[in-house]
Amino acid sequence: PHRKVNSICCIGAGYVGGPTCAVIAAANPHINVQIVDVNQSRIDAWNSDVLPIYEPGLAETVAKSRNRNLFFSTNVSQAIEEADLIFVSVNTPTKKSGMGRGFAADLGYVEAATRQIAKIAKSDKIVVEKSTVPCRTAQSIRLILEANSRSGVHFDILSNPEFLAEGTAIQDLMHPDRVLIGSQDTVAGFSACASLAEVYSAWVPRDKIITMNVWSSELSKLAANAMLAQRISSINALSAICEATGADVDEVAHAVGLDSRIGPKFLKSSVGFGGSCFRKDILNLVYLSESLNLPEVAAYWRQVVEMNEYQKFRFARKVLHSLFDTMSNKRIAVFGFAFKKDTGDTRESAAITLVQSFAEEMASVAIYDPKVEERQVWLELTSNDTDIEAKVKERVTICNSALEAAGGADAIVIATEWDEFKDTNLNYADVYRVMNKPAFIFDGRSILNAGVITDIGFKLHTIGKGTEGRFE
Ligand code: UDX
Ligand code: UDX
Ligand code: ADP
Repeated sequence: PHRKVNSICCIGAGYVGGPTCAVIAAANPHINVQIVDVNQSRIDAWNSDVLPIYEPGLAETVAKSRNRNLFFSTNVSQAIEEADLIFVSVNTPTKKSGMGRGFAADLGYVEAATRQIAKIAKSDKIVVEKSTVPCRTAQSIRLILEANSRSGVHFDILSNPEFLAEGTAIQDLMHPDRVLIGSQDTVAGFSACASLAEVYSAWVPRDKIITMNVWSSELSKLAANAMLAQRISSINALSAICEATGADVDEVAHAVGLDSRIGPKFLKSSVGFGGSCFRKDILNLVYLSESLNLPEVAAYWRQVVEMNEYQKFRFARKVLHSLFDTMSNKRIAVFGFAFKKDTGDTRESAAITLVQSFAEEMASVAIYDPKVEERQVWLELTSNDTDIEAKVKERVTICNSALEAAGGADAIVIATEWDEFKDTNLNYADVYRVMNKPAFIFDGRSILNAGVITDIGFKLHTIGKGTEGRFE
């Protein structure tokens, strides 16, 4: 027998908590869902017509239930008090100082949220760890809750990692490959697990809801991201061999992916993976391995991140080299600043590294991205430091269209694979006309049709394609 969930609180109205609980609310009209955050402007945005994050289908999903059974507020305490089940979906950034800095996750926000739950709760709660956390965090949550709770109040802790990808969040939530719930191996643990499973079963087939112990669940999340990133680093390592030999990485990926043991997904060579998860989660795994005294394991995973750094460096070096080893007084148009298409998110985007390296070469850099807000670009490039800001703004401009960015440029660098940059959507003949000659395109996402582009007159370099017969 398990308790039916009537009221849900989600602490953290970010990329994970917002879309996840919006979908839960839409599928469970009988459950009251409150998404809370300490950030007032974020909550105001969730309550407005312009949501704080862009995801296809998100606005429609929110509209379905907002102010019916879905509420956004900053009243964290009240939402905790009223809830049977609480998702902890706060940020877990990489530590910037102290032990494990640059690798370990900063669990300060998780701990603060946990302490608040302990302080407020007057009735039994199921506490669900949603944020990606290092292995064994559930144990810390349990200790904090048990040491600080009112007497007679019982907590069950579940791990329920989220596997959604940005840009396809709603699609991924609606049709997940699996929903993973980790619980304690006790009667109470299994019962809590069943309560959460019932929430998901409103729209997810039962056979896709899998349960396991908490540690397996926590590690599975890190493992999935590490193995996805590892595939990208593997194909990117091969892209370097392709460029040097005249092989074509897309052909290689196609041939390799047809092996059913390997499969075709996540084999797209690129200028480097970005996003808030891959780098952070792998470094987390590296830190975990080191703390478990497994240096060989740590080195293996670390190499996935190093290969990614190398890919960005290698691409930037190729651009410089092609432009006759000097960028001073040249304009470089950067198409795309988001870490992938269909999102306005820029966290860890390869474009950041590229723009910085071009600016250091004294190029003037013109950025265009269809979704990224201007202030977000400045934030990434300047880290809010006014000294850096003055320097960056001397070299970098933000444009309102691809054509505007290309005006007077010597080279175009495609950093994000937005559909509007494809040669079927953008008139590259017009683009060619407004550029300096020779006009170069560096396709870091392999989205252009080489024949079309070179026929116009461009000098084209594509990631992972041998330059034999093109230009050198
Ligand atoms: C391999 C390739 O599978 C095949 O496509 C290629 O043509 C030749 O090399 P083979 O070496 O015969 O074939 O056997 P395979 O089944 O791939 O196993 C290789 C090794 O990996 C074995 O020692 C196997 O025990 C091990 N293995 C395989 C694992 O340890 N775990 C696995 O999940 C799979
Ligand atoms: C990832 C995981 O996919 C998701 O399951 C997890 O919950 C969070 O982390 P996300 O970072 O949103 O999601 O996007 P993803 O589609 O995985 O892309 C990450 C980066 O890898 C992007 O920069 C993307 O451009 C790059 N990528 C992806 C490639 O370079 N090649 C590929 O084949 C796939
Ligand atoms: P993710 O990508 O994991 O969803 P985000 O950074 O997008 O991460 O969102 C996390 C959110 O959690 C932020 O909006 C932040 O303000 C919020 N948050 C952090 N700590 C707390 C807390 N103790 N109480 C309420 N909200 C919090």
